[in-house]
Amino acid sequence: MAIITEKDIQGEPLCGKTVSVFGYGNQGEAQALNLRDSGVQVSVALRPESRSSGRARAAGFDVLSPGEAAARADVCSLLVSDEAMAGFIAEVVAPNVREGAALVFAHGYALRFGGVTPPEGTDVVVVAPMGPGLRLRERYEEGGGLPASFAVEQDVTGEARAIALEYAKAIGCARVGLFETTATEETEIDLFAEQAVLCGGVTRLIEAGFDTLVEAGYSPELAYLECLYELDLTVNLIRRFGISGMRERISRIALYGDLTRGDRVIGADVRDGMRQVLNEVRDGTFAGEMVSDEISGGAALEDALSRERAKPIEEVGRRLAEVAHEPRDPESP
Ligand SMILES: NC(=O)c1ccc[n+]([C@@H]2O[C@H](COP(=O)([O-])OP(=O)(O)OC[C@H]3O[C@@H](n4cnc5c(N)ncnc54)[C@H](OP(=O)(O)O)[C@@H]3O)[C@@H](O)[C@H]2O)c1
Repeated sequence: MAIITEKDIQGEPLCGKTVSVFGYGNQGEAQALNLRDSGVQVSVALRPESRSSGRARAAGFDVLSPGEAAARADVCSLLVSDEAMAGFIAEVVAPNVREGAALVFAHGYALRFGGVTPPEGTDVVVVAPMGPGLRLRERYEEGGGLPASFAVEQDVTGEARAIALEYAKAIGCARVGLFETTATEETEIDLFAEQAVLCGGVTRLIEAGFDTLVEAGYSPELAYLECLYELDLTVNLIRRFGISGMRERISRIALYGDLTRGDRVIGADVRDGMRQVLNEVRDGTFAGEMVSDEISGGAALEDALSRERAKPIEEVGRRLAEVAHEPRDPESP
């Protein structure tokens, strides 16, 4: 797969185009700021009751009503939450958006599973940064960026791909690398990785290691520190140097244990479980289940969260917070 970078994208990004960023949350704030710092003419669109209006105005943005912004924009960057996207597009964007405008999504979820039907006369693209908004902004300010995938889902003007690339350049992602995909591939990989590796997988791996040690009579505090606190050292090494590079930098004892025992931990049954999880992503079972829970008030999610918080590892984590966790930023949730 070709890796596209800034040198492959000619000229000033989105020159002469008016961009409206809808939503000023995690991605909306970061992308609006990066777009503006890249010289793009950008305004922010928020519903009247939005909690974010003050923050957007304080950052110097014109805050427009969503309908007005959709009517004015050449490029609509849709950074409202995925659950709200279908209704937002049907009620606010579709009745107002200009013929030939481009709709930019930051994730393919709403297109693949969220019931979104984009207006026919618009270009539709996905530009999905690989990381949270805070990091997207920090890396941009440091002169770098986050990689992103991008996809063209509807091209009525013949310019959709160019718009996706220019948008990705303006938010800093082309400084690192852009990967062309489809909304379906981007969404299915993203959901699978969250479920099997990044969130669902890694938390269960930590818990299973902790429980195994505690059941065998070892100190819960030391089990916590060894299985959880030290994880970022390994992740950082993998991130910086790859898996082989990490292995070159750990002790010979750790290396021998990794190579002779790892496959017994993540064995055939775990891989079978991963295949089932992937199938449920692809056939829509996961998305359908989640929507049903949300329609009924999110009780299943809340119950699962309560059960997780009551686990022994969480109790140890609370006791060791001062030693093992970052000092809490009073501004953060
Ligand atoms: N978070 C990530 O790490 C990440 C990474 C890559 C891509 N993405 C994608 O980026 C998009 C935005 O996600 P996010 O994490 O930035 O969401 P978020 O932090 O929850 O922010 C959502 C924004 O949407 C607004 N909003 C919510 N419901 C709305 C509605 N019905 N009408 C109008 N505005 C509404 C909220 O405004 P109020 O202030 O009014 O509540 C808020 O400003 C999603 O497609 C997500 O998948 C996220």
